[in-house]
Amino acid sequence: MSASTFSIELTDRERLIKAAFEAKEFAYSRYSNFRVGAALLTTTGEIVKGANIENASYGGTICAERTAFVKAVSEGKRSFTGLAVVTDVESAISPCGMCRQVIREFCAQAMPILLVPADYEKQLADGVADGGVKETCIGALLPDGFGPEDLDRPRVQ
Ligand code: THU
Repeated sequence: MSASTFSIELTDRERLIKAAFEAKEFAYSRYSNFRVGAALLTTTGEIVKGANIENASYGGTICAERTAFVKAVSEGKRSFTGLAVVTDVESAISPCGMCRQVIREFCAQAMPILLVPADYEKQLADGVADGGVKETCIGALLPDGFGPEDLDRPRVQ
């Protein structure tokens, strides 16, 4: 699979990053005060946004990435070409383990995942390449991960 198969058009990349910032505005993070925004790009060019939604019973918290996937998949959108994630910190924050597993379920190994620093716009203005975005993929974030196709494997009797 060539890298170009999964590169995101520049305009889509900018749209996706902008959408992740917009999503962050709706974070419900009253316990951690750590806002996260995520945005998913579908193969048809639609964008689905998600924010982290916390709960007084902390374990009920849903991360921004999983909010976006659950929104998309529950609306019949299962085919994605990119994911962007942004927080309020100046370094590119990477998805938690549980979110990596959910990404593994729905995304190709090489699909671009854009980890966006909070000061992305400033870094762009300062001439930093790509605004300091760290681009990765689930193949790198969750190597040798367990996925849906593993359940299709024949069992040894
Ligand atoms: N969080 C996310 O939304 N995504 C991640 O990948 C890491 C953590 C949220 C969960 C919680 O609301 C807050 O960040 C602090 O853990």
